[in-house]
Amino acid sequence: MLRNTMNRLLVAAACVAAVSAVGCVSEKATPAAPVRDAAFLGYSVPDTKQTTCGNCHVDVQAEWAQTKHASAWADLQATGHADASCNKCHTTNGATNLGADTAGFFAATTDAGKKLYQDVQCEACHGPGANHISAPGETQPIPTIIMDTTHADGCGSCHYDVHNPFAEQLAVSRHGTMPNWEGAAGSCQVNCHTVWGAMSQIAPRATAFREFGTNPLTTTLKPGLTCALCHDPHDATNPAQLRLVLTATSTADSAQHACGKCHSRSPAANASSWKSSRAAHSAQFATLMGTAGYIDPSLGNITGPMRHGTVETSCAACHMASGPVNSASGAFAVQNTGHTFEVLPCLNPASTATGGVDTSAACTEANRSFAACGTSTCHASESGARDAFDRVQGEIQGYVNVLWVDKNGNSTIDAFPTDSGWLPKLLLHDATRAAGTKRLATTGADTVYTAAKGARFNALTFGSPNRHGDGSFGVHNPWYVRALLVKSIELMRTAYATSDTLQGVPPAVQSAMVRAAARQRTH
Ligand code: HEC
Ligand code: HEC
Ligand code: HEC
Ligand code: HEC
Ligand code: HEC
Ligand code: HEC
Ligand code: HEC
Repeated sequence: MLRNTMNRLLVAAACVAAVSAVGCVSEKATPAAPVRDAAFLGYSVPDTKQTTCGNCHVDVQAEWAQTKHASAWADLQATGHADASCNKCHTTNGATNLGADTAGFFAATTDAGKKLYQDVQCEACHGPGANHISAPGETQPIPTIIMDTTHADGCGSCHYDVHNPFAEQLAVSRHGTMPNWEGAAGSCQVNCHTVWGAMSQIAPRATAFREFGTNPLTTTLKPGLTCALCHDPHDATNPAQLRLVLTATSTADSAQHACGKCHSRSPAANASSWKSSRAAHSAQFATLMGTAGYIDPSLGNITGPMRHGTVETSCAACHMASGPVNSASGAFAVQNTGHTFEVLPCLNPASTATGGVDTSAACTEANRSFAACGTSTCHASESGARDAFDRVQGEIQGYVNVLWVDKNGNSTIDAFPTDSGWLPKLLLHDATRAAGTKRLATTGADTVYTAAKGARFNALTFGSPNRHGDGSFGVHNPWYVRALLVKSIELMRTAYATSDTLQGVPPAVQSAMVRAAARQRTH
């Protein structure tokens, strides 16, 4: 950090001056020092990976040296396949900085000169620093943390192309295509729905924002969540240089979880939220951990086998599976990096421009990949996973349908006959009932708990495809979601069966409920 840096500044500045001058080096041991590029500083001492920048920015240097960026050159050589085409992304040069490839590594003519610019050093991201060290200040560019869609700057200038299409996949993912939430309610933009809001939660450093002031979405660069939000550019403490972790054992861990940080907002049905006509918002993490939805007290302690909650690296294990996408003849076409964040992505070897992601409308369950689920430690095969997926979603959908069928697909519970099921019917009756006796209203005398309000919360949280719920239709925690919905149906039947025109539970759902209740008892 610079606070430490400033104290060392005088010493370090002298050192920097010394390295750039020939006189610093022992006359006897060395021939003429390699000529430095006019713009890029590169290494101060290549053999110890001491960058010139790191002479002053001591703490960043120490962190960076532990990252894979610092061994990009050695790893490249170790392949035995290194050729000139590889250098652009495994060295420090102008080509990855909206510049020409005639700077840094590419400009150096001797081996000793090239050595100064091996690896992905500071300037590979921050741009050339010669001007900065001649007058240190806040002039050094903070790298573009918003995606540049031409792959000429920022992380995407190397992390792209068929072998590493992180940028391409992110660009077509929901994270990359988020609608513009600028100007929306304060908490939406400040927490999760704009990159600067999310950065202020996850990486609260004012410097990261200087590049775009307070509103990145007015720039022509790609908004949405970007690489440096989830990845720490300098710090390799966590795997994959993640800022937060992927492991969790309880809902309380969400604050430190790379996905739970956002995907666990207002999840549980507490004393007031079950009244809400909206569901638990972004409830995936809490569903996985078994705390989302309205938990009726009569359910007691739900201690089922929440297998999906204990999946190693939780969300990423399912949502970020990676692997090659091959053509029909088996030849490599493009690498799936998992940065669509989709469990069941539609992949197509011809879709190289979008990192192998088939963005066409023809994408249906039949051509989605179940590879993430069909690994040896999980489901035995992709087809086994597909069956389990269909079974669970079908069963959960069956329960939800008793409570609510969203006939007009607007993710809102509308009164019968616009929607059907028990809740729309109660809503219809509510219209003619006196204040204080309405089952689904949340105003005036009707703010007390009713079985219908708890059921509504669960139907919306687990049964709605909209993004205010869980969205997995039970897959995140089948046993738990099943228990909550079955209980909601039972409570509804007890509370209203005699007074309203509620239809019986369809036989197929009834037998599923009997099986579910039996399972509940045995665990
Ligand atoms: C001679 C010492 C020195 C060297 C070498 C140096 N810097 Fe700096 N750097 C500074 C000082 C001093 C500041 C200003 C600190 C401030 O104003 O908070 C600064 C600011 C920065 C900032 C802005 C940080 C902020 O908090 O606003 C970045 C980014 C940066 N330097 C990166 C680099 C990079 C990359 C290199 C190598 C090309 C480099 N620096 C080399 C001394 C140095
Ligand atoms: C367009 C930029 C780019 C080019 C060109 C490029 N690489 Fe890379 N390379 C990357 C990136 C980005 C990674 C990091 C990928 C990751 O961690 O998943 C990487 C990682 C690697 C690794 C480490 C992989 C590992 O499993 O640890 C090796 C080895 C490698 N590249 C070899 C090569 C070779 C050989 C060439 C030339 C034939 C080459 N690269 C050309 C961007 C590039
Ligand atoms: C992989 C790209 C990348 C590399 C390599 C890199 N940086 Fe950064 N750096 C960034 C990004 C992105 C930010 C803004 C986000 C943040 O602060 O976390 C940043 C922020 C900074 C800052 C200001 C905030 C802070 O963390 O103090 C300084 C200073 C800095 N970098 C110096 C360096 C130095 C020195 C090196 C080399 C030893 C280096 N960086 C290597 C991408 C990089
Ligand atoms: C100049 C090209 C270049 C740029 C710019 C670049 N990277 Fe990399 N990155 C690489 C290469 C090459 C590797 C593989 C190094 C190796 O394994 O030898 C890599 C590896 C990584 C890894 C793998 C770490 C691990 O532990 O597996 C992460 C994460 C990463 N980069 C993130 C970023 C982010 C975030 C940025 C932007 C802030 C960025 N990179 C900018 C070339 C680049
Ligand atoms: C929403 C968060 C998020 C964003 C945004 C994101 N990543 Fe990642 N990335 C992850 C997670 C989580 C992992 C670890 C996945 C795992 O362990 O299976 C990862 C893994 C990686 C790796 C290591 C892959 C390997 O070979 O092990 C690289 C490299 C990487 N990301 C680069 C990028 C780049 C470049 C961008 C921007 C184009 C980016 N990421 C955007 C979350 C993110
Ligand atoms: C900074 C907050 C944030 C983080 C961190 C984050 N997400 Fe998201 N995610 C969002 C937002 C906001 C959306 C909804 C974007 C939209 O549709 O407008 C979203 C959408 C998604 C979607 C698509 C949902 C849909 O309806 O299609 C998936 C899947 C997803 N995220 C998974 C993950 C995973 C896995 C991680 C961790 C690696 C993660 N997210 C980390 C904020 C975040
Ligand atoms: C056991 C594998 C698994 C785990 C672990 C998992 N998910 Fe999911 N997730 C799924 C499946 C399967 C779906 C349903 C996908 C579909 O219907 O397209 C899903 C759906 C989603 C959706 C809605 C996507 C959409 O297209 O509407 C989001 C968002 C999401 N998950 C985020 C997360 C987050 C965040 C985590 C970690 C807290 C997580 N998931 C953990 C398998 C998993």
